[in-house]
Amino acid sequence: MMTNDKPISNFSDQNELQSEEMLAVIFEYMGKITAENDLDKLLMILADLGKRLIIADRCTVWLYQAAEHQLWTIVAHGIDKVVIPADSGFVGHSFMTGEPVIVEDAYQDERFNDAIDLSTGYLTKSVVCIPFRNSEGEIIGAFQAINKMTASQTFSEKDIEVLTLAASYSGKSFESSILRNELIETQKEMIETMGEIGESRSKETGHHVRRVAKYSYELAKLAGLPEQQARLLKLASPMHDIGKVAIPDHILLKPGKLTDEEFELMKTHTSIGYYVFKHSQRDLLKTAAIISHEHHEKWNGTGYPNGLAGKEIHIFGRITAIADVFDALGSDRVYKKAWPLQDIIDHLKEQRGQHFDPTLIDLFLGNIDTFLDIRNELSDDI
Ligand code: C2E
Ligand code: SIN
Ligand code: SIN
Ligand code: SIN
Ligand code: FE
Ligand code: FE
Repeated sequence: MMTNDKPISNFSDQNELQSEEMLAVIFEYMGKITAENDLDKLLMILADLGKRLIIADRCTVWLYQAAEHQLWTIVAHGIDKVVIPADSGFVGHSFMTGEPVIVEDAYQDERFNDAIDLSTGYLTKSVVCIPFRNSEGEIIGAFQAINKMTASQTFSEKDIEVLTLAASYSGKSFESSILRNELIETQKEMIETMGEIGESRSKETGHHVRRVAKYSYELAKLAGLPEQQARLLKLASPMHDIGKVAIPDHILLKPGKLTDEEFELMKTHTSIGYYVFKHSQRDLLKTAAIISHEHHEKWNGTGYPNGLAGKEIHIFGRITAIADVFDALGSDRVYKKAWPLQDIIDHLKEQRGQHFDPTLIDLFLGNIDTFLDIRNELSDDI
């Protein structure tokens, strides 16, 4: 078990900033804040600003998530969100009441939630929290700073003023970043939901759409697509089979081989998906339209629905084709059992330049461990 006997930092002898120094810091950060579009990074920049302005050891900016009644933050790049109940601890108190909180010794205060200290081994002593408001004056989160690093070791009313100022400086760019983030989150949710509708109808095993998304992303990166394109593909590829929602159960769920006529109908899932998305102005849904349409085209021109060949097939379609078949062959379907891995690899080799883009197959097989890791991680057995 973690103990709390770790001393707080010894450097509690720093000086308060003079006003010119404070201005210089604010000036330095204003540029960074307005240039940053990424909400996670913005949260970290703001926290850093708060920490420097009031000479705290740590500072965290928390945002409210209404659906779960939680506050969340990002404390370090590449590390998952931290969440706490919206009414927990000093942050929660400040958020719920709209009042700032100053505490000299957290452990002497019943509002303190020691969960984070317990899990990190950090020792919180002095704390200051202020509510964080948007331009309409609604409370949308809270700033929290821990452990004053000056000789006094306690936060003051002045610190509250300065933090409040810092919060208001972040202003518009912060709000628009939150809005953008919500849009993206909403889109992601819609996509997962739609992918899952297709999935449950065809009774395909749980993680199929998530695996196809990850394989597609990795293969896109290997193929040298820019990060932004690779991410777009990752977000959209779960929708490749959305058109299957229009295929009747007696075909979709048929335990045996499809008749020619049934397969003709099955093939329409590509064009149906395309018609669903093609009028959208959103990059994400445009990408979904391409993927739905072209994931069954083949390099040698024998695929469907349009018999496109080679690079006539969009790179997104060529990538998703490999991801989809690799996953379909490795999974049980109502009409077939999963294939052994070696047979799958042999099939991909054999179809190199036939079904699949040869360059992409070389990249895929040359980096097969990357894909096997994803397969293990998102295995249907778990
Ligand atoms: P799916 O089951 O997700 O399969 C996706 C693609 O993986 C297939 O596209 C095919 O390229 C490859 N694939 C899957 N299983 C096999 C296999 O046993 N052998 C080979 N060589 N390739 C395989 P395809 O063929 O265009 O099929 C599209 C969708 O049509 C399938 O998606 C599935 O939903 C349905 N389907 C295809 N064949 C049958 C069948 O015989 N019975 C039933 N009930 N559905 C079928
Ligand atoms: C809190 O009680 O405000 C949270 C505790 C912490 O982050 O140390
Ligand atoms: C499926 O039917 O293949 C699952 C849903 C999807 O891939 O969109
Ligand atoms: C299909 O692409 O038609 C089926 C692919 C899948 O759901 O794995
Ligand atoms: Fe398909
Ligand atoms: Fe699929």
